[in-house]
Amino acid sequence: MTNATKYNARVTGVGMYVPDEVLDNDYFAKYLDTNDEWIVTRTGIKERRILRNGATSDLATGALKDLMATTGLNPEEIDVIIVATVTPDMLFPATAALVQERVGATNAWGFDLSAACSGFLFALQTGANFIASGAYKKVVVIGADKMSAIVDYTDRNTCILFGDAAGAFLLEPTEDKSTGILDSILHIDGSGADYLNMKGGGSLNPPTHETVDAKMHYIYQEGKAVYKRAVLGMAEVSAEIMEKNGLKSEDVAWLAPHQANLRIIDSTANRMGIGMDKVMLNIERYGNTTSGTIPTVITEYYRAGKVKKGDNIILAAFGAGFTWGSMWLKWSID
Ligand code: COA
Repeated sequence: MTNATKYNARVTGVGMYVPDEVLDNDYFAKYLDTNDEWIVTRTGIKERRILRNGATSDLATGALKDLMATTGLNPEEIDVIIVATVTPDMLFPATAALVQERVGATNAWGFDLSAACSGFLFALQTGANFIASGAYKKVVVIGADKMSAIVDYTDRNTCILFGDAAGAFLLEPTEDKSTGILDSILHIDGSGADYLNMKGGGSLNPPTHETVDAKMHYIYQEGKAVYKRAVLGMAEVSAEIMEKNGLKSEDVAWLAPHQANLRIIDSTANRMGIGMDKVMLNIERYGNTTSGTIPTVITEYYRAGKVKKGDNIILAAFGAGFTWGSMWLKWSID
């Protein structure tokens, strides 16, 4: 979508949180029929982080506190908190409410947003719209997921893929229309719902002994079907946002992709005509952290001094729903 209002939303601060406990590939090889070589070759993942005690609000609060510590943001200044997650602490209240209380954001309102692995992208565009409206000055967008809470650790097809993490961005207005969030293309298609879901716990299948016995409170994924759609979806939508905005491959400083599978990321970079040296990666260390992948990878690259003011970054994601999309972000922090 394009933005015809007075303000653009720019990212003015970043933060992240990952738990300390590491599960490497050998951990799974000890009790499942799998091995490091299979996992690395098929996915690009070497290890992931697990929050043993605690919930998604702890990850989200950790990321926001990191953002506040590094930007000097006063919690009372926060207008809106959006938490993208598929692993909320509870079905209600919103995880955003728990985060609000924990950081003392006494003047904020907020909500959770559910778009699976595209959650951070959808939340960032939602936050940008609040800024563009002129009604709000400081919007915090958090992507946080404790995937270990919904992973079946006896299922080798899924347990090796996921980890826990959170990242947080601060959005503020600028009248400079040439910087910040410049465009996005977002999609949702419920015909993909059967391929990647968690069937239990909602109004369709409220929890019973039977739903627990049938493992309906774990992630269900048809890996191959999702893989095919993800390759197509992420690659096409990333190329499309470049074409729409007249961006050539040499204009793109970075691709910040959702980190689900290195081969999906590789296909996306290929379609965009950029080399892997321009691709932000942390999948090797964290695996797929759902809403956490994009904000953590951008935070790490920014803090490593690799992202410069004025850089064109293309964000791209694909996830359950299906949901997918891309965003053109011009970096505006020194
Ligand atoms: N270790 C060893 N073998 C494994 C395994 C593991 N951890 N997981 C699955 N296998 C086996 C399968 O059982 C299958 O065996 P079979 O041929 O005897 O039935 C074989 O490996 C091939 O499985 P397949 O699913 O075809 O592998 P794949 O190349 O498609 O890779 C994924 C599997 C999950 C890595 C891949 O499909 C994928 O990444 N899908 C998309 C995931 C994704 O992006 N999800 C989130 C969207 S945000």
